[in-house]
Amino acid sequence: MAKFFIYIVIIFIGIQFITIDAKEHIQSNPQDEIIVNSEIKTILKRSCYDCHSNSSTIPWYGDIEPSSWLVRSHINDGRKILNFSEFRKYDTEKQKDLFDRIEDSVVIRMPLASYVWLHNDASLSQEDKVKLKEWSRSEYKAI
Ligand code: HEC
Repeated sequence: MAKFFIYIVIIFIGIQFITIDAKEHIQSNPQDEIIVNSEIKTILKRSCYDCHSNSSTIPWYGDIEPSSWLVRSHINDGRKILNFSEFRKYDTEKQKDLFDRIEDSVVIRMPLASYVWLHNDASLSQEDKVKLKEWSRSEYKAI
């Protein structure tokens, strides 16, 4: 039995060397950031920016393997698909498509459930969802 725990500890230490890189802050031009009113910005910052912007907050378990793999791959994948810090660099077609997806995403599955589980304050209230939907719909139509 004792041996078993020693193996577990050795494996745990071993995997600490297998890291996924996702920087907490990436320098970006403030001019590329999405333009939104302060109400929407507050919601986006609270519920989306950890994975969809260049300024993420990485929690303590984001520095310990294996949980870091999940945290950091969410950040990498989230940024790749939609980065609010670089939104104005996208061409209009991509922006339009993203507004369309944002509208659906806030109803169906964003922010990710595993994230909300540990970041209760990030969950979207019914009111937030309505605001994000209205905002993304009107931006979609305006393009
Ligand atoms: C914990 C990290 C995380 C948070 C927080 C988060 N997302 Fe995501 N999001 C992802 C990842 C990872 C993907 C890509 C993989 C996937 O679709 O599951 C994604 C995909 C998306 C997509 C593309 C979906 C599609 O259908 O193509 C949209 C739009 C989106 N997120 C919007 C949001 C919005 C809006 C918020 C805030 C209300 C948010 N996300 C919060 C991680 C996150």
